[in-house]
Amino acid sequence: MSLSSLQRFTVSISQRIRRGNTLLGNAIMRSSTLYDWFYPPIEIDPDEEDIEEMKIEDIEPVKPEPPAEDYREFNSHYFADLHEQERMLGDERRMNFYHEAISRHIKPGDRVIDLGTGTGILAAFASRQGAAKVHAVDHSTIIDHARALAAENGIENVDFEDVHSTKFHLDEPVDVILHEQIGDYLFDEAMVENVSDLRDRLLKPGGLILPSQFELFCEPMTLHDGKRVPYIWELTDVHGFDFSSMEHSCPQNVGYYRLVSCDLGFVKHFLGEPEPMLEVDLHTITESTLSKVVKFKRKVINPGIIDGLVIFMKAKVDEDLVLSSSPLDPERAPHWGFRVLRLDQSRAEIGDELEITLDVEQWSNPDTWQWTCERTQ
Ligand SMILES: C[S@@+](CC[C@H](N)C(=O)[O-])C[C@H]1O[C@@H](n2cnc3c(N)ncnc32)[C@H](O)[C@@H]1O
Repeated sequence: MSLSSLQRFTVSISQRIRRGNTLLGNAIMRSSTLYDWFYPPIEIDPDEEDIEEMKIEDIEPVKPEPPAEDYREFNSHYFADLHEQERMLGDERRMNFYHEAISRHIKPGDRVIDLGTGTGILAAFASRQGAAKVHAVDHSTIIDHARALAAENGIENVDFEDVHSTKFHLDEPVDVILHEQIGDYLFDEAMVENVSDLRDRLLKPGGLILPSQFELFCEPMTLHDGKRVPYIWELTDVHGFDFSSMEHSCPQNVGYYRLVSCDLGFVKHFLGEPEPMLEVDLHTITESTLSKVVKFKRKVINPGIIDGLVIFMKAKVDEDLVLSSSPLDPERAPHWGFRVLRLDQSRAEIGDELEITLDVEQWSNPDTWQWTCERTQ
């Protein structure tokens, strides 16, 4: 069994265990007892061939599909943390984008839902723009700060609703749904589920979702030499110290096979010409219209080591009003991380063709993503 097959095999097992369950996953990672129970070290006898016989289909899932409630609970705790709110508020490019979008597109007299109001900042922008009413909805305790901040800042016409959006009801539909439900992987804050639920129940026909146009990218790329992080078993000479035996203990948690950075100097270049892997319009999308398998090719124009696939997004309000988290865009909104799906390193030369496949069970849960990058010529 090759090393990369073994990695894929162990990643698949861990995906079955952790699928969609961030709370469980985090609990496992924090507790050495749970970790050892879920992920017993694999002992490999190099002479033993029958490991080839093991198939992922033969393994019973340890945990059933977790309910969305678990993610909601995690999300509400996460955003109760003032540091998470200040990171977003301190991201000037994000704030300028939303301030400009609201100034351009929210009209005096509009009735607005601010989905996930956080500290209430977008609701405040809408109110100042002359909205007749803003329903500012948040399921996290951060909403208590939002209510107090609005009063202190003389913000009017905002009703704060301490509830998950799926349980929020109104007698009359609204003109605009405003939201910032954008995760590093674009969909991992349940943007599609939450926005489309409100859209279908509470948005007037022809009403506006702000923002609604998104592009998701997944580009093969080369890291800067000084930033490259090899798998631990690839470190064969750290001042004479050899880690190669660690290949027998390669981690079974899928998170190990991804990296995160906000650092503009992390990615050296894309290997091909970047193009969106998915284009989404929240006015029309439903979860079922998102393909579960996406395949695309990249012709190599910049040679280098293929270190992984970098995930980033663009949100568009107008042609001249775009928010980007691209690792190579100096104007990127800095608080979003870009995620790297790691690959076994190999070199690509100009003219090579790479075929990338993303096989996804739930777009909102990157633990269910599997990826490959094959050279086709
Ligand atoms: C990324 S923050 C954005 C906060 C604020 N709108 C801003 O732009 O600064 C997302 C917020 O949405 C809230 N949230 C996420 N999903 C929600 C849902 N379905 N219903 C209510 N609140 C939600 C979170 O608690 C968090 O405060």
